[in-house]
Amino acid sequence: MASPFEVLDIDPDASEADLRRAYRERIIEAHPDHGGSTAEFQRVRAAYEAAKAGRELEAPPEQEEIEEEPEPDDGPEGAHVEYLNYAVLDDHGWDVGDSDLFGKAGDADLDPVNHGKFVVEPGESLLEAAENRGFAWPYACRGGACANCAVAVVEGELEMPADTILPPEMKAHGIRLSCNGIPLTDEMKVIYNIKHLPGLDELRLPPRPFEQAHASD
Ligand code: FES
Repeated sequence: MASPFEVLDIDPDASEADLRRAYRERIIEAHPDHGGSTAEFQRVRAAYEAAKAGRELEAPPEQEEIEEEPEPDDGPEGAHVEYLNYAVLDDHGWDVGDSDLFGKAGDADLDPVNHGKFVVEPGESLLEAAENRGFAWPYACRGGACANCAVAVVEGELEMPADTILPPEMKAHGIRLSCNGIPLTDEMKVIYNIKHLPGLDELRLPPRPFEQAHASD
């Protein structure tokens, strides 16, 4: 079985910064939107966690005294996000506008890939939080210039520092970009994978724009 460092294609003695850099490169290659698969994405994610944990275990203790952890409620808390996959709505005869959509999803006992909850930690975007918990949500540019990563915010608010693509009427209906979207509320409900929603399809980029551009050179 390959070691975490072999999966990440990096030397075991590499620095913390190089480990993070290798992870970011590998996780993009492994993403289903970029030619990888969900299994490969989760394998790279697990390798990164294992490599980080190994590094922490190997780190020599520099101080005998253990400093007290700060009180958890002294710092900013994350946002609790309940998510639902747009792809399952049709199967159940549900609609984005259903008033009790998330209640129905809760009763349907859906797979965790399609429905569940996670916490977006301070400093994470919504997409990063999903990826850091092993989910492969869609994206392409990660820079606010396509609709691949769009989500429908059903409850709460998501701030987008970068957005050059969404028309005002879509934003008025709660459509936001998850790649740079930061929760402004403690609780949120979002529908992800809405890239095929009418009006968003034409704002999408192909999953692998650069490879396709080179292929047609
Ligand atoms: S991935 Fe293109 S705007 Fe988010």
